[in-house]
Amino acid sequence: MNERATPQDFRTLTDIREESEDVGRNASANPTMGDIINRRYSRRGFMAGSLGVTAIAATVSPLALLAAGEARAMTTSAFSFDEVEAGVDEMHHVAAGYDADILLRWGDKVFADSPDFDPMNQTAAAQARQFGYNNDYIGFIPLDGSSERGLLVVNHEYTNAELMFPNWATVVTEVQEKDGVKKDVQKVKMGEYTPELIGIEMMAHGGTVIEISRTDGKWAPVLDSAYNRRITVETPMTLSGPVAGSDRVKTKADPTGTQVFGTLNNCAGGVTPWGTYLMAEENFHGYFTGDVAENDPQAAAYKRYGVPGGWYNWGQFHDRFDVTKEPNEPNRFGWVVEVDPFDANSTPRKRTALGRTKHEGAESIVNKDGRVVFYCGDDERFDYVYKFVTAGAYNAADRAANMDLLDQGTLHVARFDADGTVQWLPLVHGEGPLTAENGFKDQADVLIEARRAGDVLGATKMDRPEDVQPNPKTGKVYVMLTNNTRRKDDQVDAANPRANNAFGHIIEITETDGDFASTTSTWDVLLKCGDPSVAEVGATFSPATTANGWFGMPDNCAIDADGRLWVSTDGNSQKATGRTDGLWAVDTDGDARGTSKLFFRVPVGAEMCGPLFTPNDETLFLAVQHPGDEGLATFEAPATRWPDFQDGMPTRPSVVVVTKQGGGRIA
Ligand code: FEO
Ligand code: CA
Ligand code: CA
Ligand code: CA
Repeated sequence: MNERATPQDFRTLTDIREESEDVGRNASANPTMGDIINRRYSRRGFMAGSLGVTAIAATVSPLALLAAGEARAMTTSAFSFDEVEAGVDEMHHVAAGYDADILLRWGDKVFADSPDFDPMNQTAAAQARQFGYNNDYIGFIPLDGSSERGLLVVNHEYTNAELMFPNWATVVTEVQEKDGVKKDVQKVKMGEYTPELIGIEMMAHGGTVIEISRTDGKWAPVLDSAYNRRITVETPMTLSGPVAGSDRVKTKADPTGTQVFGTLNNCAGGVTPWGTYLMAEENFHGYFTGDVAENDPQAAAYKRYGVPGGWYNWGQFHDRFDVTKEPNEPNRFGWVVEVDPFDANSTPRKRTALGRTKHEGAESIVNKDGRVVFYCGDDERFDYVYKFVTAGAYNAADRAANMDLLDQGTLHVARFDADGTVQWLPLVHGEGPLTAENGFKDQADVLIEARRAGDVLGATKMDRPEDVQPNPKTGKVYVMLTNNTRRKDDQVDAANPRANNAFGHIIEITETDGDFASTTSTWDVLLKCGDPSVAEVGATFSPATTANGWFGMPDNCAIDADGRLWVSTDGNSQKATGRTDGLWAVDTDGDARGTSKLFFRVPVGAEMCGPLFTPNDETLFLAVQHPGDEGLATFEAPATRWPDFQDGMPTRPSVVVVTKQGGGRIA
């Protein structure tokens, strides 16, 4: 994670991300659980459509499938749709009886006067007026309470240059030597960067606010809406809360430590009860380059966050991304950004009271006492789960009164104890070990180094916490733990019970007496993920789960208006699990608890993000991120040309909108 990466080497961003985020790579010689699964699926090679499904079904004994069918008939699932067959091909697939339409693609117009998408001649100026790349979080903010007209807010997490730029990346052969044996390995070699290409990358990051409406059953963007907005790496923002003005966030461009340009790596996020849009800054370290001396006063703090990660070489043309030239700039990223989508000219605020981590998302709930509770995962192996409780109460009658609620409150980090309790430990300067003697001279230090604060408080090291989602219907909170193949046998604990956890798990927290602000909760494991028919995996899907219904690597999730759980995944593939990523419906209650069903699956190479339902549960928005990004994928040769399937048109990350044919709830 902390080793220096050279931007223009032979690795694509996917390679770097996989190494960094541990999507099933392990340098040890021991066969991993992933290897065991891989052996099952790699025999079949790449299969399309129903042929692939048949082959997958054949790996599970007919007896097991029969048992699943019988078990399903005997249980009471909250879901009635007909399950999609798992597999891998170039298309997306949704359950029968539902439409899955493309709503917005990378390069689509966000404004009536945006230039048409011209991938062969893309410019930074055009990209700044068009829908960005790699859509991740999706929020829907109803206009006048409607489920058919509202503001769609979408994060654009990162860019894949090799898939975006024509005549740029090439497939080359590299000689690799391992154990004295040389072999030819084919790799994607990135091209040369120019200021214009980096400008396109920067404008393709950030977020989009766009009005959408449903007419005659079909959703479409409203391009002349005054709400429409692009947020990018250059959008001026304010640092607010306890870190504002700290010496550690002052730079040459901002000697006050209060004004930041832009946001990046916005993964998941949230919509607050008062209708603002939260963009979580995740892998910010990857955008910094430069050299850090061992005696640099920030060396240890950088290292805890993997700065400089060197995934992008923006620092080549923009000094602020070179830590040698601007050592405090990394402290200005890793926050939760709040955007008022009802004012396209408003200045987004980085809410430092929520701490600086690799924030996956920031989902919230109004507590019974009116305070608002935000749940955040810090997505890295062995990092922590947090919750922030506002000091003030939410005022449903006065939106303006809520607009600075996120500046005051208490951030807590979770310690999952073996007795089934969670202790939420406050990150408050002066309390416990968070003192000057331990290098925290004030609350700004505690928040800038939230990870180290969690370390000294004794928080539980988790298997990569992603979305953390409260369920207002049941008082439960779901924690997606995507995977961690670096956990060793002697590092297993009650809440992270599998060594070499290739497929992740889901924890269910119960807040005491429905009090989401409680500092003591209880917890249970809802699911250990992976193929339940492979005993070594130790997956715990219910017996009613079919061969299509199980999944690995939970990432984002949604709770629908009925309180039902839907889980999207990141990291399933032909090689890893014999299936693409997708959206699975998971029963949490009654005799069907732990039963999972596949509702939607993405095209090859893509990841499934952003599941989000309208308040009436009749529309589901889904984000298909990095389609075609598998194997030796380039602009010229992606693994799929989804969604346009036109020669010369690249593969395009897109928002998909799912509705029931003939109308009605998604059930
Ligand atoms: Fe951007 Fe944690 O996934
Ligand atoms: Ca994610
Ligand atoms: Ca979510
Ligand atoms: Ca992920």
